[in-house]
Amino acid sequence: MGQGPVNLSEALASFDAIWSPRIVARMNDYDVRIAHVEGEHVWHVHEYTDEFFLVLDGRFDIAMRSDDGTEHTVTLLKGDTYVVPRGVFHRPTSPGASILMFELSGTSSTGDHHEGDLPEHVDSTTGHELG
Ligand code: NI
Repeated sequence: MGQGPVNLSEALASFDAIWSPRIVARMNDYDVRIAHVEGEHVWHVHEYTDEFFLVLDGRFDIAMRSDDGTEHTVTLLKGDTYVVPRGVFHRPTSPGASILMFELSGTSSTGDHHEGDLPEHVDSTTGHELG
């Protein structure tokens, strides 16, 4: 038997840390993770896996950089979904939001590579257990 149901509102209320994803479910080779986000993440890239985002509340911006160095940003609001393709450098920022992600298990929140120093408010993690 698997674990019981997980309520997303309760799961989000169970922790305060920002940029520090919690794993709410696992399926096949994937994690379903949730996170509180605020401020700037770091430029990073996942070389071998796409990354799926769903905004549960608030606003979430994802800057992305093309191979030619040009940047563009997608703005996601509550209910919006987006996939950052593998190999694309990206930097999430937010004035405050809660998000849900589908991530290949073992995927680091700061990618295979990131640029510059890791800010103290950004957790480099493959996801923490809930509770
Ligand atoms: Ni990423």
